[in-house]
Amino acid sequence: MKITKAVIPAAGLGTRILPATKAMPKEMLPIVDKPAIQYIVEEAVESGITDILIITNRGKGVIEDHFDRALSLEDSLRKGEKYELLKSIEHIHKLANIHYIRQIETKGLGHAVSRARTFIGNDPFAVLYGDDVIIGDVPATKELIDAYGTFGKGVLGIKKVDEEAIKKYSSLKVENIHDNIYRCTDMIEKPQKKEDILSLYSILGRCILPAEIFEILDHTAPGAGGEIQLTDAMKELANTVGMTAVEFSGRRYDMGNKLGILEANIEVGLKHPEISEGLKAYIKELSKTL
Ligand code: UTP
Repeated sequence: MKITKAVIPAAGLGTRILPATKAMPKEMLPIVDKPAIQYIVEEAVESGITDILIITNRGKGVIEDHFDRALSLEDSLRKGEKYELLKSIEHIHKLANIHYIRQIETKGLGHAVSRARTFIGNDPFAVLYGDDVIIGDVPATKELIDAYGTFGKGVLGIKKVDEEAIKKYSSLKVENIHDNIYRCTDMIEKPQKKEDILSLYSILGRCILPAEIFEILDHTAPGAGGEIQLTDAMKELANTVGMTAVEFSGRRYDMGNKLGILEANIEVGLKHPEISEGLKAYIKELSKTL
């Protein structure tokens, strides 16, 4: 079955990067010259997604404005013959059919995804976390969709992280099938005790889920941090029918934390045709003082 629908949860409070996120959604923080969420929408589109539901809340209207057409800005750039700049904005509203729904209360990622039930219907769908940008030669969501095509089970995008990080993310019980493909039979969200860590593999920002996840979310009790965790619902899938995990090839940047934002800007900046030379020279000079 072709996967054409995706959900981007973007209704979190972004408390780890306050005060930047007091009035500005973290999903709109730029990596050089594009907001994080545009990279994510582009990844979805390059993976064959045509319909996207963005889960927002109060104060995130600027996300809708970004994916809307800016006619007067286009006119002004055209009049000023600024065709390169015009090119950089005029395709954004045509990227995909983008829909929005509000999560009235911030009750966790699982709760946010459950808002997508009517939009999704009975089809399997992709989830791209709104603050995880993945940049690579092959779009990460496409790698996961391909694995869904092969194995027909829910798919997790995974990477190995260190022991400090695993406490803040999820930890998975995995068994290698071949190369970067694993079978996942169990998982835990934010393991605090060493004996709870199943492996250093963690879900980082992408998954493909069957529509059955909505029934599971209906009875998923609040977990870590008092929130309804998507990991707790996916654990039920992993324990019963099993899930597939793909160690995606791209580099993932966590736009929900301060260091992640800086790493993304430096690494993307170093490859950006307009600023790479200037940034390289600046870093070389600066590193002499470190
Ligand atoms: P996070 O847990 O990283 O987001 O959720 P957060 O709650 O904003 O983080 P803090 O406050 O800095 O700790 C991962 C993704 O899920 C979305 C977030 O917007 C983010 O893209 N999310 C999280 C929701 O949409 N709703 C929620 O209730 C929680």
